[in-house]
Amino acid sequence: KRIVVLYGGRADEHPISCISAAGVLRAIDTERFDVVTIGITRSGQWIIDGEDPRAWNLDDGSLPSVEITPSSRPVLLDVSRGADGFVIGDHDELKDPAKGYGTNFVSMADSSDHGVVTPLGHIDGVFPVLHGPYGEDGTLQGLLDMMGVPYVGCGVFASAACMDKHFTKVLLQASGIGVAPWITVDARTIPDDEDARIEAGKRILARIEDAHLQYPLFIKPSRAGSSFGVTKVEHAGDSKELIGAILEAAGHDWKVLVEEGVSGREIECAVLRPSDRDEVATSWPGEVVLDNRGQNDEAFYDFDSKYMDAEASHVEVPAKLPEETLQKVRDMAAKAFAAVDGRGLSRVDTFVSEDGSVMVNEINTMPGFTPISMYSKAWEATGIGYTELITTLIDGALR
Ligand code: DAL
Ligand code: MG
Repeated sequence: KRIVVLYGGRADEHPISCISAAGVLRAIDTERFDVVTIGITRSGQWIIDGEDPRAWNLDDGSLPSVEITPSSRPVLLDVSRGADGFVIGDHDELKDPAKGYGTNFVSMADSSDHGVVTPLGHIDGVFPVLHGPYGEDGTLQGLLDMMGVPYVGCGVFASAACMDKHFTKVLLQASGIGVAPWITVDARTIPDDEDARIEAGKRILARIEDAHLQYPLFIKPSRAGSSFGVTKVEHAGDSKELIGAILEAAGHDWKVLVEEGVSGREIECAVLRPSDRDEVATSWPGEVVLDNRGQNDEAFYDFDSKYMDAEASHVEVPAKLPEETLQKVRDMAAKAFAAVDGRGLSRVDTFVSEDGSVMVNEINTMPGFTPISMYSKAWEATGIGYTELITTLIDGALR
């Protein structure tokens, strides 16, 4: 079967996607799958057989700046070029040299042979190893649905719902799942003028009080990942600090969450449901243990501790918790996944309080996917190795 592995992408999480893809490309069963790699640049060019992320050495701290280089060669799809860049039409007509489309088009599915005909020839499915907006948020999933191409992972709705932390919470709450209390702020309404800004901050502080949110607060963009734009606000009443944190988050999304910091451990559970016909399976829940926790209790699991300082943390599966609590996390993860209509995979991140109560923090529909990521480690500890996991997901998508 011919499978496209898509990586990079337009989101801030572009480099994370590249390392996830490097892991997948190294481990994918090449006896079963003929792999076509397509790198998406930050500006949206789709480049066939572009840079191979397996070749990148990221041990030198260069990760945040890693990106797929834009190409002057013909590209498969170029969303950065405006109206002419994306042409949908009859394949035979489009590929007619007289029409002048070159290879810069995507054709609609040739439904006769279950798959899609692109300038690449026939492909059977896509594994979008993409994190963040324009990859994990339903937009790509909609494009693939339109073209009739099967793909790994959640569909349009679950992808869109889980990309947006505000709506994830709304849906989970409606399903009786506990979430951290929060308010949502539209950062577009924050004025440029310094004095007006302080006033706007005061109004948000009043909303925080009305909602009885307890400090510390976490300020985060609604539609981002990998802790981009997240700030912890410790103390009540400082309008300037709050506005600063909101503007930091707004650098990633105008929709900003002001969320109560839950005291508890962050426990993550991997969910697998290869196709719509399968039951939801959950892994043993795991925990990222920060090895320097003792010296710096204030630290939270930010971008640097996630990706730049891998030695400073390790993944523990199952998390050191009573079996009863682990089971509760698994049940909650399955329920949360069902609440958003999940398919394929997700990593459900929860907070477990000292009294054993469980809240869901977020659902990542395309979690970090290297062999040492929590998602893979959790399945390994539950009995499914990395290569088998990739095969299971692709087989599920093609079923
Ligand atoms: N958003 C990152 C990739 C994760 O959840 O693992
Ligand atoms: Mg998370």
